[in-house]
Amino acid sequence: MTTTTQADTWGLHESQFWLRGKQPEERVHHAAELGFWNVYGHPEAEEVLRDPATYSSDTTRLVPKDMLADADLDIDLEEMQAGNLLQLDPPLHNKMRKLVSRAFTPKVVADLEPRIAAVTNEMLDAAGSSGRLELVEDLAYPLPVIVIAELLGVPASDRHLFKGWVDKLFDSSEQFSLKEQTEGRQEAVKKSLEGQQALVEYLGVHVDERRKQPREDLLTKLVEAEVDGEKLTRNEVVNFANVLLLAGHITTTMLLGNAVLCLDTHPQWDERVRADRSLVPPAIEESLRYLSPFAAVARATTREVELGGTTVPADQMLMVWVAAANRDDRVFADPDTFTPLRDPNPHLAFGRGIHFCIGAPLARLEGRVALNILFDRYPALRTIPGEPPKFQVNPNMTGVRELPLTTA
Ligand code: HEM
Repeated sequence: MTTTTQADTWGLHESQFWLRGKQPEERVHHAAELGFWNVYGHPEAEEVLRDPATYSSDTTRLVPKDMLADADLDIDLEEMQAGNLLQLDPPLHNKMRKLVSRAFTPKVVADLEPRIAAVTNEMLDAAGSSGRLELVEDLAYPLPVIVIAELLGVPASDRHLFKGWVDKLFDSSEQFSLKEQTEGRQEAVKKSLEGQQALVEYLGVHVDERRKQPREDLLTKLVEAEVDGEKLTRNEVVNFANVLLLAGHITTTMLLGNAVLCLDTHPQWDERVRADRSLVPPAIEESLRYLSPFAAVARATTREVELGGTTVPADQMLMVWVAAANRDDRVFADPDTFTPLRDPNPHLAFGRGIHFCIGAPLARLEGRVALNILFDRYPALRTIPGEPPKFQVNPNMTGVRELPLTTA
């Protein structure tokens, strides 16, 4: 007998079995039909993420060239990847990461708190007092995008443009495959690359402006930065900024929405967290574990390796499902129970090792400030019968896209 889970009711992607109370049959699984390996176990995922020499982040070399040719787009993947921190390996990764790590120190991030609070209040004032909120449109989307746009130095008022392009990037429910390229998959790749190209062109204009006229912003810092005595190329600056802009908002949007949704579905916790605000940070951590926004990260093996009792050959792509690892019953007792009191809570939602999310302190701060203000302003935040939340359709993401709520 199959039971209907909350994930089914919400229509979450059918491949996300870990959201349906299931443990994987194999912690390391070869998806031969898709041409890559899935890593679902927590210790196995950590092993991969902590060993960049064996598990490289430069995965584009394994993408068949004809995948792009078939998409009929004039795109040079290498050009698109230069300066993309997420795909760099040591030693260049370390040097490039240092360039931005100063922009995300605890002090710099803590100093953003008043601005985050001001933007949150401004957004909620604008949403009015009708007794309803669409949490994503009214707050969870604009807040992180405004914060990261201001840090970078691009106009936050352009956020409607970013949204159109970013939606294109993640708008498909097709599963990624290195093997057969169906029409649906090709359409998804094409749409995603179009969105990417539009973002890159947009950022290119701002980068050129900063070269002529420096300002006090992160884009200018990147334009002026040097690695081994050499300035970054235009391409590198643009791609670097692109990663920050993208990673800096879409995931945090999901974090805010998911945290509110977790409390709505666990009213006893909603009550406790509202009454004891010291529980806000652990509630955020638990919602990151329970509904991990960025479900998977990719790696490429540089040599044959033994992982979780399985031999993985060299030059294989791995999807490391941090979202599944976050439900591993060898590490988390009652993994399908939402309980902010977990201590420790070694979830992998921000990754591990050298690529550990640089924006984690900022995302956590945005989450804490926004949740506290929501609690202060509204006596209740409840989903509406007949208007269920809508989720991202992409199988590599878990996060609300629309969350209508009543506030009284
Ligand atoms: C890296 C998740 C927010 C910028 C990562 C990684 C994960 C992640 C899983 C590791 C990728 C890998 O190992 O390949 C998240 C989640 C967020 C969030 C769940 C929100 C809840 C942010 C924010 C920013 C940001 C707010 C920027 C302001 C980055 C960057 C990297 C990264 C630049 C690459 C670091 C590196 O490669 O060294 N993030 N992120 N992220 N994140 Fe985040």
